[in-house]
Amino acid sequence: MACSHWLFFLLLVAFTAELSVTGIFAGAVGVNWGTEASHPLPPSKVVELLKSNGIAKVKLFDADPKVLEALSGSNIGVSVGIPNYMLKSLNASRKVAESWLHDNVTRYFNGGNRVRIEYVAVGDEPFLQSYGNQYRPFVIGAAMNIQNALAKASLASEVKVVVPSSFDSFLSESGRPSSGHFRTDLNKTMIELLSFLSKHHSPFFVTISPFLSFHQNKNISLDFSLFKETAKAHKDGRSTYRNSFDLSYATLVSALSSIGFPEIDIIVSKIGWPTDGAVNATSPTAEAFLKGLIVHLEKKTGSLPRLPVETYIESLLDEDQRNLSSGNFERHWGVFTFDGQAKYSFSFNHNSKKLVNAQNVQYLAPKWCVVNNNKDLSNVSAKALEACSVADCTSILPGGSCSGIRWPGNVSYAFNSLYQQNDHNAESCNFGGLGLITTVDPSVDDCRFSIQLDTSHSSSQIPILFQSWPLLLSFLPYVLNL
Ligand SMILES: *[C@@H]1O[C@H](CO)[C@@H](O)[C@H](O)[C@H]1NC(C)=O
Ligand SMILES: *[C@@H]1O[C@H](CO)[C@@H](O)[C@H](O)[C@H]1NC(C)=O
Ligand SMILES: *[C@@H]1O[C@H](CO)[C@@H](O)[C@H](O)[C@H]1NC(C)=O
Ligand SMILES: *[C@@H]1O[C@H](CO)[C@@H](O)[C@H](O)[C@H]1NC(C)=O
Ligand SMILES: *[C@@H]1O[C@H](CO)[C@@H](O)[C@H](O)[C@H]1NC(C)=O
Ligand SMILES: *[C@@H]1O[C@H](CO)[C@@H](O)[C@H](O)[C@H]1NC(C)=O
Ligand SMILES: *[C@@H]1O[C@H](CO)[C@@H](O)[C@H](O)[C@H]1NC(C)=O
Ligand SMILES: *[C@@H]1O[C@H](CO)[C@@H](O)[C@H](O)[C@H]1NC(C)=O
Repeated sequence: MACSHWLFFLLLVAFTAELSVTGIFAGAVGVNWGTEASHPLPPSKVVELLKSNGIAKVKLFDADPKVLEALSGSNIGVSVGIPNYMLKSLNASRKVAESWLHDNVTRYFNGGNRVRIEYVAVGDEPFLQSYGNQYRPFVIGAAMNIQNALAKASLASEVKVVVPSSFDSFLSESGRPSSGHFRTDLNKTMIELLSFLSKHHSPFFVTISPFLSFHQNKNISLDFSLFKETAKAHKDGRSTYRNSFDLSYATLVSALSSIGFPEIDIIVSKIGWPTDGAVNATSPTAEAFLKGLIVHLEKKTGSLPRLPVETYIESLLDEDQRNLSSGNFERHWGVFTFDGQAKYSFSFNHNSKKLVNAQNVQYLAPKWCVVNNNKDLSNVSAKALEACSVADCTSILPGGSCSGIRWPGNVSYAFNSLYQQNDHNAESCNFGGLGLITTVDPSVDDCRFSIQLDTSHSSSQIPILFQSWPLLLSFLPYVLNL
């Protein structure tokens, strides 16, 4: 994964949605800001994007100093993350936990431009079923050691330790929320986790995924997922559920009650709808979902006992390096495209109607790599596969927005994707002589052949006060093997 870097900016925006019916606060709406991109938008641009859209809270997946520096002085509430691979060592040693906290949290509380760190998320959905028992045994111990380190640093009242739980950590029988329970292999862990959270007055972070419910469960209709009033309601005894969010949320509340924690604060740490890579993953459906969700969180008219304290939209930006094991849609969760451009009409606050795009984004030159139609293309498909093993071809695969473009247009798409990832290195458009660099935009209808961000100048903008970052430019080590 390539890295980039830059300046920082300061600002503040606060947003709270008021519940019009009950008069209670539905809590802030924030976003997840992931950086698994070949050419991440510079952190200073992302922070501007957050501010101009009135986004008051952000959840990170690590504690990248460049990102935290960009957030310093902004007054944006921040959740920093501990990657799963660190859990083992953080469980094993209090010293390691103290040093992690010192390097990644405590130092942002000292001095002038503070970062408003509110949560440390221990692991990223470490209980995901597909991980098996890889991380589970270390989670609670790691969380306790971080909590202990926070207390030692006198930060325990300002920063809460949380553990983001996955959408598949809880379930119900026959789609009845009243039967909600945690996955049986997590029984003991969940009781330990909830006891820990409860003891420290920390909330329960959890993913709710109407998108995945729709995809995995034939009983869940699209209209039910998109908060359409005309959707057929689901009944469970005397309760009626009018949308998929309520159904999952009520299932979660039952699961928490079943192990004795009915009152714990719930924070929806991930919820969203992707725009590519799967059936009904489109911009109009994502727009309908998010608008429905926000209205729903503001005007409580449903059957829920209580609402989440905070909600983090998945995700701020598209990320072209995300792992595709759960589906091609994984790289398309962004409310904004990879370059910070709005995909649809939506707003995080009451003061505006539309999203505000990232400004003055630096792109590479307007050049693309396509198939040379004057050559014998009988072997070109093998070259496309090679390109796709590294580049992002999720849009041309079945269900993708570019799956309709015909051969060899789809091969051009693959060639271009690799060429852009390699910062227009001419060699990366060779493909045994079958590639051709062009200045004519090959985009067709909704299928966009993108131009990557120019990240080459960002090193000149690095503030000198941070010396701990690793290699500044790590281009994809891919060399075409022709
Ligand atoms: C956090 O702290 C650890 C341990 O001191 C360090 O190795 C790491 O680079 C820091 N940064 C991140 C992003 O975790
Ligand atoms: C977690 O750390 C504790 C304390 O060092 C250790 O006793 C325990 O075995 C560790 N857990 C695992 C699963 O390694
Ligand atoms: C789907 O609905 C049917 C009938 O209501 C029910 O028997 C079945 O268990 C449901 N399946 C799931 C996965 O919820
Ligand atoms: C988990 O809890 C359920 C319900 O309380 C119980 O039926 C199941 O046997 C438990 N599983 C384990 C592994 O403890
Ligand atoms: C959802 O996808 C199906 C199958 O492609 C399509 O027929 C339907 O029109 C889509 N609905 C929406 C609202 O996009
Ligand atoms: C993607 O995720 C799967 C399942 O968690 C894992 O086995 C695989 O190693 C991951 N691939 C990469 C490139 O990280
Ligand atoms: C296509 O590949 C085959 C097998 O590698 C090779 O024999 C053939 O010459 C190639 N054709 C062209 C036009 O490159
Ligand atoms: C391009 O489309 C053709 C058929 O339309 C298909 O056979 C081929 O696998 C596709 N190539 C890629 C790279 O998706």
